[in-house]
Amino acid sequence: RMRLGVLISGRGSNMAALIEAARDPAYPAEIALVISNNADAKGLETAAAEGIPTAVIDHRAFDGRAAFEAALDTALRDAEVELVCLAGFMRLLTAGFVNAWADRILNIHPSLLPAFKGLHVHERAIAAGVRITGCTVHVVRPEMDDGPIVAQGAVPIMPDDTPETLAARILEVEHAIYPLAVGLFASGKAKVVGQRVKIAGDTSVPPALIN
Ligand code: GAR
Repeated sequence: RMRLGVLISGRGSNMAALIEAARDPAYPAEIALVISNNADAKGLETAAAEGIPTAVIDHRAFDGRAAFEAALDTALRDAEVELVCLAGFMRLLTAGFVNAWADRILNIHPSLLPAFKGLHVHERAIAAGVRITGCTVHVVRPEMDDGPIVAQGAVPIMPDDTPETLAARILEVEHAIYPLAVGLFASGKAKVVGQRVKIAGDTSVPPALIN
């Protein structure tokens, strides 16, 4: 099974979805290490309760991004991590780190990229009046919230939605598509070809969910 390093900053519900998927021995990946940049992240407790090794690498303890990322890199390599999964990890990674792990970092973002990159996505989607939003799993490239798309889930925006109700509806779909996308990658069915991810085998069903 492919060894995953999951990077979190907070609640860790997407991390928990990956842990849950990996309970199935047939799932092609396992969680080797969970790293948080924030010692108070709730997800650290969830991972520890599952017997998964955890580490806190607090960016504030380092003199600059390069030193922080060197510590991340060392921890991931020491744990023999093969694929890095960002799961609510709220630090931008520099090109140095991203290129060192080229095509081996995935991220989940709560919008239908390339729409609504960055923060406060639910407020912005509601304000823009879009009727459908969702979530995206993509391969990480140095530009923020950019890179080849692995899977997406579509979620409607209801007239009385608040950012909170919308976030909760999207989160449920995140919990389905992140394990799906990681599984495709870990099994070798998904591969980066240029600026796109190609899925081997069945090309009639794209990795997409409609809520
Ligand atoms: C998720 O909605 C994730 O998509 C989002 O933060 C939340 C983390 O929740 N990520 C980003 O906004 C990345 N910029 P979780 O900690 O429960 O997985």
